Amino acid sequence: MTDQTIPLAGVIGSPIAHSKSPRIHRHWLTVMDLPGHYVPMNVSPENLAEVLRTLPKAGFVGANITIPHKEKVLGLVDIVTDRAALIGAANTLIFGKDGKIHADNTDGYGFINNLKNAPCGWDGANGPAAVLGAGGASRAVIVALLDAGVPEILLSNRTRMRADALAQEFGKRIRVFDWRQAGNMLEHCATVVNTTSLGMVGQPSLDVPLQGLQKGAVVTDIVYAPLRTQLLETAEEMGCHTVDGLGMLLHQAVPGFERWFGKRPEVDAATRDAALR
Ligand code: ATR
Repeated sequence: MTDQTIPLAGVIGSPIAHSKSPRIHRHWLTVMDLPGHYVPMNVSPENLAEVLRTLPKAGFVGANITIPHKEKVLGLVDIVTDRAALIGAANTLIFGKDGKIHADNTDGYGFINNLKNAPCGWDGANGPAAVLGAGGASRAVIVALLDAGVPEILLSNRTRMRADALAQEFGKRIRVFDWRQAGNMLEHCATVVNTTSLGMVGQPSLDVPLQGLQKGAVVTDIVYAPLRTQLLETAEEMGCHTVDGLGMLLHQAVPGFERWFGKRPEVDAATRDAALR
């Protein structure tokens, strides 16, 4: 195989040094013994358009997109999937042989597959879901939960207007609670999701009262640093099933890897170890 035919991919963001994506994709390339390279690329917003048009010419078959470019990139590509349009952001680009750049969003796919592959199992039809937060991550989670057949979403956000706007956009199956009443949602819910940055290393803790958590509910956090957030610790003590946020990151990487490098990777214990290394 010549250099020209070795597929290249990477993750574009700024800053990018913290990204776990290179470790995940390199692990899969190694264990599946596939030709390919995956690199982190620190690109500023003003250079994004130029970089995207140049990469395919240099042998890139696609890229992941992360903060702060996930929304802006939609305006710079040729084809946007329905899912990315609905979420309003993209995290996975495919550089097509036709010269077109395709943008997709696999965050919701990663979120749902993380829950479905958890040891406790998960079925959206089991009951309503509580969602804390109404930012970009919340949009992907809400679209995925609705798609997975959750009967109702109870939504709360510090800035209520953002939650009201999501309810307006995504319809009747969303009921908004004031942030001061966020704890009230929990007693009705079979699934609880934190999509805020609260509880992350260096951020304030999640100050929502958790006494309402139901035994047997599935509680998950998109925060994965630390891996065991205070929310997950408390939920476990209260007899809930907990699913950490690292799995979402691993699962969202699967569709991109498959498209770029030609084989579907496994999300297993070794993948987790590689991401954490
Ligand atoms: P992302 O795209 O990662 O979701 P974001 O759009 O900035 O990032 O959203 C961050 C989420 O965390 C929002 O729901 C935000 O609430 P606001 O809409 O009120 O800003 C929430 N968040 C961040 N800091 C918070 C805090 N100190 N208390 C409560 N919620 C907070």
